[in-house]
Amino acid sequence: MELLHIQKKIRNLLAERDGILLAHNYQRGEIQDIADIIGDSLELSLQAAKVVARVIVFCGVHFMAESASILSPEKTVILPRLDAGCPMADMITVEQLREKKLDLEDPYVITYVNSSAAVKAESNICCTSANVISVIKVINGKRPILFTPDRNLGQWAQEKTGRKMTLWKGFCPTHHRLTLEEVHTIRQAHPDALFVAHPECRSEVLAVADHVCSTSGMFHFIESSDAREFIIGTEEGMLHPLRKRFPDRRFFLASPTMVCPNMKKTRLEDVYNALLRMQPEVKVPEEIRIPAHEALKRMLAIPRDK
Ligand code: 13P
Ligand code: SF4
Repeated sequence: MELLHIQKKIRNLLAERDGILLAHNYQRGEIQDIADIIGDSLELSLQAAKVVARVIVFCGVHFMAESASILSPEKTVILPRLDAGCPMADMITVEQLREKKLDLEDPYVITYVNSSAAVKAESNICCTSANVISVIKVINGKRPILFTPDRNLGQWAQEKTGRKMTLWKGFCPTHHRLTLEEVHTIRQAHPDALFVAHPECRSEVLAVADHVCSTSGMFHFIESSDAREFIIGTEEGMLHPLRKRFPDRRFFLASPTMVCPNMKKTRLEDVYNALLRMQPEVKVPEEIRIPAHEALKRMLAIPRDK
């Protein structure tokens, strides 16, 4: 089907089904272009909870659709590709987490939103890459902290807050792949560009960044910066919304290897077919949803840092 034709058919079906289309910043450009809301993982679910639509079509990965289901249990949440998972979220299971909690004798568990609903349900509080510092700061200084699943985000937050934590060994393969050598090479090619990195990158890469922030933080940083050129240390899809929003600036991907195969699985055809069949649906069972929601609510009560 021709691009504009299928995009139009999806928009028509969305109207018929009383649905909204959410797209993460890393999704393919042609999907972002027809989305009602584009943003970072948590932002999307929070916005979706506010709208009256009956159906949420989540173009992202599985844990994001779960977050939407946790926050909007009355809505039907469709994930067009059920096989779009997150390798980092899969690096921790509930059983492993329970075992570690016993080992550490009742730690306070902070879990990054890039995790399964079941792992969130076993955690005290959630965090995002945008509010991790604020979350750590409100935790009682005496209680040991276990941070899951991203060791790079945890390491960065540990350095920023000076708070020692036990870090789970998970990582995002897409961000962890970026090496210091690649950063040096691209900086030499674009000496005037600022290097902006996502905290899922390795610590030696973050140490040389001009700014470290979440995908939503990147928009704020670029908006307030006088620089004209930026090297972007996050997943490739991010260049699409940045170039749309800032047509007078130039953006370079830190490395051509920064592509998340799971984020690229969803195509327009998948969205169209999912809307036609109204599946695959993602629904978090109540016994997991309620405790996972508690961990998210504790996080949402804390003001967000930039
Ligand atoms: P944010 O969109 O929260 O910055 O997360 C990055 C990411 O890796 C999502 O999969
Ligand atoms: Fe998971 Fe990384 Fe892909 Fe995000 S970019 S979905 S954290 S593997």
